Amino acid sequence: MRNKLVVGNWKMHGSRPANAELLAGILAARPYAADVAVCAPFPYLGETAVALAASGIGWGAQDCSAHEQGAYTGEVSAAMLAECGCRYAIVGHSERRAYHAESDSLVADKAAAALAHGVTPIVCVGETLAERDAGRTEEVVARQLAAAIDKLGERVAGIVVAYEPVWAIGTGRTATPAQAQQVHRALRAQLQAAAAGGGGVRILYGGSVKPDNAAELFGQPDIDGGLIGGASLKAVDFVAICRAAG
Ligand code: PGA
Repeated sequence: MRNKLVVGNWKMHGSRPANAELLAGILAARPYAADVAVCAPFPYLGETAVALAASGIGWGAQDCSAHEQGAYTGEVSAAMLAECGCRYAIVGHSERRAYHAESDSLVADKAAAALAHGVTPIVCVGETLAERDAGRTEEVVARQLAAAIDKLGERVAGIVVAYEPVWAIGTGRTATPAQAQQVHRALRAQLQAAAAGGGGVRILYGGSVKPDNAAELFGQPDIDGGLIGGASLKAVDFVAICRAAG
């Protein structure tokens, strides 16, 4: 059974006081039936770890280097994330693919680096609007996921996948539950065929998830929770979305 997972992606938002208030609101609403985590900007991981220690709520980062260590100015290694208690690292978010030219193979290397240090990579895939309009959605996400599968082999059973249509991120335009389910089903089949435990990989939906559309999305058979951007910055909204997951 795949327990639902809801992950907040704070992106480049927050401040010490704002984070403290947000985390207090999330903590106050425990317990959650779903697994819950927040992915904070790097400088706040230490404080997030302190605030969430032994709370049952996980935390993670929004990226991780593909390299083990060395002269990579500005990068943060998976070992460092593990040391900060991170359970998760988002890799291959569409904003990193778009603004930092991250390729499928770099994203796969980042996923492997995270796994090697016991950090679960949340591997993001998703098509642009032009790709959807051209009828290429499933081909694009299959190619993105295949890079991780090729790199990880059986270890792919240890990842989380997030399907995030680029046109739905931060736009207020959500994929319909049926549109999302169709892609999730295809991703599930690809994972099942790739590895013994592939069918158990959790596949999150992301892209304008809000309290009023979360339950219907999470009710789809192959949607195992959500990766939440904007709505994860307000405790009342994030808590409502976590509740909608179970
Ligand atoms: P959004 O972002 O919920 O603000 O659309 C989702 C994401 O980018 O992870």
